Amino acid sequence: MAAVVIIGAQWGDEGKGKITDYLAEKADMVVRYQGGSNAGHTVVVDGREFKLHLIPSGILYPGKTCVIGNGVVVDPEQLVRELEELARRVVDTAGLRLSKGAHLVLRYHRLLDLLEEERRGHGRLGTTGRGIGPAYLDKVGRRGLRVADLYDAEGFRRALSLNVALANEILAAAGKETLDAAALAEEYLALGAKLEPFVADTSLLINRALDQGARVLFEGAQGTLLDLDHGTYPYVTSSHPVAAGACLGSGVGPTRIDRVLGVVKAYCTRVGEGPFPTEIAGEEGDLLRERGREWGTTTGRPRRCGWLDAVALRHAVRVNALDGLAITKLDVLDALPRVKIAVAYRCRGQLLEEFPTDLASLRACEPVYEELEGWQTGIQEARSLNALPAAARRYLARLEELAGVPVFLVAVGPQRHQTICRQEVF
Ligand code: IMP
Repeated sequence: MAAVVIIGAQWGDEGKGKITDYLAEKADMVVRYQGGSNAGHTVVVDGREFKLHLIPSGILYPGKTCVIGNGVVVDPEQLVRELEELARRVVDTAGLRLSKGAHLVLRYHRLLDLLEEERRGHGRLGTTGRGIGPAYLDKVGRRGLRVADLYDAEGFRRALSLNVALANEILAAAGKETLDAAALAEEYLALGAKLEPFVADTSLLINRALDQGARVLFEGAQGTLLDLDHGTYPYVTSSHPVAAGACLGSGVGPTRIDRVLGVVKAYCTRVGEGPFPTEIAGEEGDLLRERGREWGTTTGRPRRCGWLDAVALRHAVRVNALDGLAITKLDVLDALPRVKIAVAYRCRGQLLEEFPTDLASLRACEPVYEELEGWQTGIQEARSLNALPAAARRYLARLEELAGVPVFLVAVGPQRHQTICRQEVF
């Protein structure tokens, strides 16, 4: 396998960072293809915790090439901050490559993101406030600024001043503070100078690496149900976390992809607003949050917790054409006497086996649960499926049956070595 795509099969925060980190060891190159600093990966290496938002977690392996593809929206302030933090902790960042074509998230995008949320009031989406929606809006509106523009100072100043004027009109009308375009341009040009050594034609780089037989791991951010087209619109992000996004966001064609792996948490979480059929209110939800440390990496918000949703999972298997699953955080369920899986929904008197992506139907859905026996034993030391308690193996087997694809990997703890490999991915 040369080109493997990893995607989140739920609402993000499935533990992709840990799985990517595990697989990155075997990859020559790790590529991020969409989203921006709304994503947050927490990776623990030798007891040291790293929180990354833009830089692929593969950077933690010395000598690995890590690409921020054209489909990512890049906040230069955040990227420079991450580079400086890694340098401070003596992590070599020489392998980073930043696409010339990636769009920039600029300060007005963040301000407009917050303003839009404020205006939505009760209808707010619960965005991360990182300017993601407004940045992608400028991209499709054909007025966005890209990484390459940072190296044409005059052109950048001109384009930025037009965009800031537009943003200032909106901000001023809402009684908000406005921005000084000239000062902002100089700030960004200075950040651009810091990023210049990393800038490259990354589509060329990735395709050439594949031509030479390199192993490339494409790392999705967020999850399938937050996809602009295939998620729970409008409670979604503004990019394409699904596997198809890997091609568009990195400049490789679909026939080059060899395998697609979906990362599935052993239960579900969602951060932000929007429908979540298997959400659990009360004590059981709190227990999952505590045991799973379910607070957002980016915003620190408590994540909404719920049972594993096989209906939503089947949707993810279909729209991503998943070859297999990586199950994460199975150990979080260790304490529970019973575990539930939603196998269907009841919606307006009908039994639904397929995930409806329209809001009205989703809101009317009640999950139909199957209950399985819990294992009530610590499993963090297990290194093979056979070492798991029978009830945990039954849970995984049922999950495979419901998803219709095999489990490749199972994570039983946050550390790199706490991973069971049932089938090699590369
Ligand atoms: P945005 O991406 O900041 O525009 O937020 C849109 C929706 O996606 C909100 O519900 C966010 O909470 C959610 N979201 C964005 N990034 C992530 C992530 O990395 N994990 C989980 N949810 C996310």
